[in-house]
Amino acid sequence: MDKEKLVELAYKASKYSYSPYSHFKVGAALVTEDGSVFTGCNVENASYGATICAERTCALKAVSEGHKKIKMMVIVSDSNKFTYPCGICRQFLSEFMDNDGIIVVHDKDKGTKEYTLGELLPEAFVL
Ligand code: THU
Repeated sequence: MDKEKLVELAYKASKYSYSPYSHFKVGAALVTEDGSVFTGCNVENASYGATICAERTCALKAVSEGHKKIKMMVIVSDSNKFTYPCGICRQFLSEFMDNDGIIVVHDKDKGTKEYTLGELLPEAFVL
């Protein structure tokens, strides 16, 4: 599964975003070490704190189907800037992605930027 295809899948997933409060549509797509692919979108709630970001929806779909080793995740949104994973999502991903796992953010005009999870979350909390 190449990066460009994941970007396309992330945009498709963002169409399902349930975001009546923020009107901010986010999509994510990931590939696991065995090549399995999962997608997700943000799902909001009237109790705002119950909202789940696209990245966690996506990771939860993988983990809940037995895929615990995420190699790469792509994140997109309908805004005109790069959308980076929030702090909670970075920590959440660190459970299922190594430090050298790849996070890709994509913007329709600005293109693609790529980071390792270690760059976005140095010294992640571990037990
Ligand atoms: N959101 C994500 O889905 N991922 C991010 O990386 C940042 C924020 C969502 C949560 C909420 O539905 C909306 O974007 C505005 O915060």
